[in-house]
Amino acid sequence: MEYRNLGSSGTKVSVIGLGTNNFGRRLNTSETKKVIDTALDEGINFLDTSNSYGDTLSEEYIGNAIKNKRSDIILATKVYSKIGDRPNDMGAGKIHIIREVENSLKRLQTDYIDLYQIHFWDNSTPIEETLRTLNYLIDSGKVRYIGCSNFTSWQLSMSQEIAKSLNMEKFITVQPEYSLLNRDIEKELIPACEYYNVGILPYFPLASGVLTGKYKRGENMPEGTRLSENKERADEILTSETYSILERLEIFAKARNKSLLDLAFAWLLANPLVSSVIAGATKQEQVVSNARTHKWKLSKIEVNEVNEILGN
Ligand SMILES: NC(=O)c1ccc[n+]([C@@H]2O[C@H](COP(=O)([O-])OP(=O)(O)OC[C@H]3O[C@@H](n4cnc5c(N)ncnc54)[C@H](OP(=O)(O)O)[C@@H]3O)[C@@H](O)[C@H]2O)c1
Repeated sequence: MEYRNLGSSGTKVSVIGLGTNNFGRRLNTSETKKVIDTALDEGINFLDTSNSYGDTLSEEYIGNAIKNKRSDIILATKVYSKIGDRPNDMGAGKIHIIREVENSLKRLQTDYIDLYQIHFWDNSTPIEETLRTLNYLIDSGKVRYIGCSNFTSWQLSMSQEIAKSLNMEKFITVQPEYSLLNRDIEKELIPACEYYNVGILPYFPLASGVLTGKYKRGENMPEGTRLSENKERADEILTSETYSILERLEIFAKARNKSLLDLAFAWLLANPLVSSVIAGATKQEQVVSNARTHKWKLSKIEVNEVNEILGN
């Protein structure tokens, strides 16, 4: 495995991380443990979860799986999502964050979170309040670093400027959707990350499994796969245009004795700002294949060729 700094921090994370939104939803506690144990055996040390995944069960199952290995793992979780019906059961306000961090710590069976991320921008809370609360959590030792997710470039930039002006800890990472099939962040967010030296943690890096090459034009979707169980998402993403791109990407990869899966990871990792690619997995063999993709380093010329296939 190869390791990179987690954003602007001095902490090293595996370039292939493990996403965990299947845990508690499609995987039970023993299946979760098997996937995590395999990931650790492959050198993966970075796990990304949220207080909301699997209706809180993702954190709970992770807590059970890692309790004797906590110090080997860099653990990221998130706060913001609605977790109850009371007025302060969601958002990035002080009351909610302080209550939820305690709940996450309990479920994860740990006394610290390595990376605590604000899952979504909260329009109804001043960002100063959120930043002050996160800084208090760092000072109290419950959180090591802070990050954000689904922020636009102006939201990230403003957060960094306010943190700087108040002499507070800044976000070290941002977690946006990013993959060969969704490059929306390249125009605004990536330049902001470059300017502020903020690491990128791409989510949906495999476009929900489409970039593994297991969905083929004109063929039935393999049983038990994510898209076979989510027709709406399948219709949205598995269009004729998507298949044409996938077929061309596959030819590009095959010409280099690689797979589409290898390319999906290698292309993201060609950007040094990408700290870790947090692909989800439902089976141990998926984690093994994903972990081994990091060996392919794309040259600048190859990245340009791929971007041409994608339509620049
Ligand atoms: N911040 C946010 O708002 C946000 C939003 C979404 C996700 N996330 C995070 O990002 C992580 C990654 O996203 P994701 O897991 O939803 O999507 P993804 O990484 O694009 O796709 C993961 C899915 O692809 C399939 N897969 C993975 N490796 C495979 C392999 N080697 N061979 C065949 N199939 C394979 C599995 O699905 P099947 O086996 O079921 O087909 C797996 O569940 C999440 O787990 C979560 O931690 C964050």
